[in-house]
Amino acid sequence: MCGIVGYVGKEKAQDFLISGLKRLEYRGYDSAGIVTLGEDGKDTLVRAKGKIVNLEDKLKHNKTADRVGIGHTRWATHGEPSEKNAHPHRAGDLFLVHNGIIENYKELKKELSDHKFESETDSEVLAALINSFYEDGKYPLVNAVVQALKLVKGTYGIAVVSKKNPNEVVVARSGSPLVIGVGHDETLIASDASALLGHTKQAIYLNDGEVATVTANSVDIKTLNAEPVSAKVEKIETNLAAIQKGGYEHFLLKEIMEQPDSLTETLRGRVNLEEGIVHLGGPGIPEAELRKIKHLVIVGCGTAYHAGLLASYYIEKFTPGITIETVIASEYRYRQAYVPEDSVALIVSQSGETADTLACLREIKKRGVRTVGIVNAIGSTIAREVDGGTYVHVGPEISVASTKAFTSQVIAMVMFGLTIAQAKGVKHSILKPYVTEIARLPEEIGKTLKESEKAVKDIVKKYADYEHGIYLGRDTAYPTAMEGALKLKEIAYVDANAYAFGELKHGPLALIDDRFFEFALLNKGELYDKAVSNVQEVLARGGHIIAVTNVEKFDLAVESVIKISSDIELFMPLLMNLVSQLFAYYMTIAKGYDVDQPRNLAKSVTVE
Ligand code: M6R
Repeated sequence: MCGIVGYVGKEKAQDFLISGLKRLEYRGYDSAGIVTLGEDGKDTLVRAKGKIVNLEDKLKHNKTADRVGIGHTRWATHGEPSEKNAHPHRAGDLFLVHNGIIENYKELKKELSDHKFESETDSEVLAALINSFYEDGKYPLVNAVVQALKLVKGTYGIAVVSKKNPNEVVVARSGSPLVIGVGHDETLIASDASALLGHTKQAIYLNDGEVATVTANSVDIKTLNAEPVSAKVEKIETNLAAIQKGGYEHFLLKEIMEQPDSLTETLRGRVNLEEGIVHLGGPGIPEAELRKIKHLVIVGCGTAYHAGLLASYYIEKFTPGITIETVIASEYRYRQAYVPEDSVALIVSQSGETADTLACLREIKKRGVRTVGIVNAIGSTIAREVDGGTYVHVGPEISVASTKAFTSQVIAMVMFGLTIAQAKGVKHSILKPYVTEIARLPEEIGKTLKESEKAVKDIVKKYADYEHGIYLGRDTAYPTAMEGALKLKEIAYVDANAYAFGELKHGPLALIDDRFFEFALLNKGELYDKAVSNVQEVLARGGHIIAVTNVEKFDLAVESVIKISSDIELFMPLLMNLVSQLFAYYMTIAKGYDVDQPRNLAKSVTVE
């Protein structure tokens, strides 16, 4: 979603603002802008619709040596993507960039008749509101910012600069992340720590309800109620290599291919193969409490939701006496759902900043339910607000489509389930096969990726012109089918939906015709024969089936087959999902779309 950068220091601000915005490109945006302020009271505001290269083109004629400035990538919410709606927004002597949504902007706007609005955005209303207090002469700037924020309903991460004092940036957050990078004679600001890499590894993560005045050598943090906050400087763990393409053409392919390593990181120190047990320290739930757990609520959006759903199929197989409800965060936050006693909520999020997931976390906590995070981004809001948690440690995921996070989220949750089962005294013979397969997965993932890439490339030629697809699976292959369909939809813009095989006869079978292909996940196991009957029904209606299977003697007369030779059983759907990921990737290449930044989407959805 939108990105913020800011700079105050000894170097040319424009240089960091542009390089920082480029680092945030992956989050998704449709326009960008920066403003810098000179000591002479001159401002240089440059904004452009579209990609950052457009902004750079304009900047060629607007180079400055100014040492303070702010910048923004905008993902349109109020008002179309355009130059006038792009940030920074000007009001009097000040400029503002804003992530989030000001919900009461219409009411506030009515009171700001002195300001001549140039954009349709809610953000300009906030700029004008701050200026209305600032113009009253209530200097310093931070006071005006605080007064304005006290009137605001909604979410924000903001950075504000003023021509009256071109040596400081004021930042604040509520529900939208902001990080302050502490350098040598320079201070940097970003909505995502990755923008700071190469400049500093020392970061201060602002908390909700805090506002900070930042100069080249100081960071002064207060709450909105003027209570001083002592800044906690933390080390940014990510390195530059992790956010570069490393020789791949796209981040997505890199992230698909690095799953053997990213899963290894998820498992590091958590699997004891000799004893056949797992050990997760992070959730911090004492064994006696683990034994009492009767209900799990798993909350997430998009891929994180699918990961939760798939994990629930596994956990309920080996943990008796436990019920699991996997829910979509944007729905659950408004439901009046009863959460039974002895429940634990798993909050699943790659970014740790998804607005709906965060809202659910807060709602669930209010009810006194213990929360456990399954999060990737270290230090993110969700990671900091949960009672305990397990980082998946897959490293930065840059491509908008989530791939490596999914695999590790599933396994991290299964390991949490195993932790409960171990505490409840479930027989070792039941749990051990899961532990053994988990330990083998990184290697098997590597083999499957190697084996299937060529096969996927070959079949994509046949399906590149299709605009409709149906993903099918049973049992654990069903949530996997849902995830495969989401991937194809979001990057290849194919109208792909997923159904449980058993649902076909209840409606979707009517769709089968030459405009559709069917992506069938056919793994060995109890329900294989039933799935085969469903495939026959599709074949009988002229379906165009792509079968992904681990059955050696697969003899169904389907149009295309992709074989997986691994002897992994329980987690075979995770291997099949690699094929879906590659299929989505190569379909997108064949169709000529933007792989890493699909239209209309953002990596981290920080607004509702
Ligand atoms: O950062 P999160 O895991 O909370 O994000 C949740 C979804 O927005 C995300 O998984 C989204 O569905 C992906 N673009 C799917 O590839």
